[in-house]
Amino acid sequence: MHAMLMQTDPKPASTDGANKTADPVARRRTFAIISHPDAGKTTLTEKLLLFGGAIQLAGEVKAKRNRVSTRSDWMGIEKERGISVVTSVMTFEYGDCVFNLLDTPGHEDFSEDTYRTLTAVDSAVMVIDAAKGIEARTRKLFEVCRLRDIPIVTFVNKLDREARDPFELLDEIEKTLALDVAPVTWPIGRGRSFAGTYDLGNNRVRRLDAADDAGTVPVSGIDDPLFDQLLTEQGEAATWREEAELAEGGLKRFDLAAFREGHLTPVFFGSALRNFGVRDLIDGLARVAPPPRGQDADKRRIEPTEPKMTGFVFKIQANMDPNHRDRIAFMRVCSGQLRRGMKAKLVRTGKPIPLTAPQFFFAQDRAIADEAFAGDVVGIPNHGTLRIGDTLTEGEEIVFRGVPSFAPEIMRRIKLGDAMKAKKLKEALQQMGEEGVVQVFVPQDGSQAIVGVVGALQLDVLKERLQAEYGLPVDYDQTRFSVCRWIESDTEIEIDKFVESHGSAMAKDLDGAPVFMAATAFSLRYEQERWEKIRFTDVKDYQ
Ligand code: G4P
Repeated sequence: MHAMLMQTDPKPASTDGANKTADPVARRRTFAIISHPDAGKTTLTEKLLLFGGAIQLAGEVKAKRNRVSTRSDWMGIEKERGISVVTSVMTFEYGDCVFNLLDTPGHEDFSEDTYRTLTAVDSAVMVIDAAKGIEARTRKLFEVCRLRDIPIVTFVNKLDREARDPFELLDEIEKTLALDVAPVTWPIGRGRSFAGTYDLGNNRVRRLDAADDAGTVPVSGIDDPLFDQLLTEQGEAATWREEAELAEGGLKRFDLAAFREGHLTPVFFGSALRNFGVRDLIDGLARVAPPPRGQDADKRRIEPTEPKMTGFVFKIQANMDPNHRDRIAFMRVCSGQLRRGMKAKLVRTGKPIPLTAPQFFFAQDRAIADEAFAGDVVGIPNHGTLRIGDTLTEGEEIVFRGVPSFAPEIMRRIKLGDAMKAKKLKEALQQMGEEGVVQVFVPQDGSQAIVGVVGALQLDVLKERLQAEYGLPVDYDQTRFSVCRWIESDTEIEIDKFVESHGSAMAKDLDGAPVFMAATAFSLRYEQERWEKIRFTDVKDYQ
């Protein structure tokens, strides 16, 4: 299993025996990192991958930001702006665990991709800048995790720089996120005097000046003279002792059940840049982060330990490798064992789909996956057969729920320079819609397609891709619509009546579902009040 995953770290994770098991499902940790831009996600990712031996040298992930071409850096727009628009997955082994780290785009825009990625993880690491605390995007992503009860591990980063008081930071997490906090480590000094961390309740110290591999050193308690050596400024050690005593005695202790239910977050302090505290974090993930959880499908809940393979596609990415115009569907395996060469059933069409070359992804590379288990994310190359939200099984007619599509907040009508290319545009939009780049609405009155996005950046991505991949120069026109909703009702007749009386404001999405477009939120509310038997929804499950 995972023969090509080399474990290069000589020191096993201290899993306290909890996960020392050959059970492939129990070993898996599938997680994402959520943070505000600049908090240190890229740096932390790089260090985590180093622990897993997935990359050889620090700086390889960073290269992406510095516009050196890497595999995932295929898109011009990404290079231009130095941001990662695409979401990718990185698999690595550390200690007894197989980690699947799902990367989320780092730019400020709300991105549906990010949200869908969070439907495929079992836990998340929340990175906070110690000088800034909870920032807007962190909070937004946290709310998505909360909706799905995803347990959160917190890493307070940049302790080597001027940082806020740790109590104040913990208080902010607790208050703004309504989440209990339980510090696992406690910083010894901060900013220029940052000297290490104290393992609360375990009488051990990790020194900043020691090699990371040196591990922790025992102390007799917070009165140990070591703290006087580490904190040399006048009164510093005494103040720290007071703080540490309060942290040890006055704050909540870690509680596995509360954490797994998403009510409490263990907090680690460190510096990703100095590769400090990262080992504690990864050991913590191995120890307490949940293995793959059950997933809800339309007819029943699927447990990860069930023998038959099931999975859902949460992301499609085109042209990962410009030399091969391929399209990769990222599927989270939910149960059973995916074996290379097996035939799976694509439930949406009922057709078999051969899994001849499923792939695992590493920091730089990908490799054929001979087998994968619940919690793993595999890339399935295809030529447009797979869509976001698709369920694959070994025959069972179930559909996983919860890979959402959000009602767009920005709507534009496509303007095509060359009318001869209308057919090509239609095909291209179909593809882009299926990949989840934009949502495509075909107006009932036969006018030009309208595209909808949640973040404005996606409009640029669409424009660039239509030009680069299809040779279609497009522009956007304003539309008179600013909001849209999918409409549903218990009676077909009611839908028909509504559609008939709103002719030019009606469109169909890619699945043919009726969409009502309104000029303003006010006019939407007006219709909602008039049409009581119609449900107007702003989130749609992919079918
Ligand atoms: P992001 O992916 O969350 O956007 O953050 P990223 O890791 O790119 O880090 C943002 C900046 O913060 C980088 O500096 C990075 O070096 C710095 N940084 C990350 N972790 C730490 C830390 O623990 N301590 C300190 N002092 N700095 C940290 P930059 O100047 O924007 O980039 P670069 O020029 O250093 O590459």
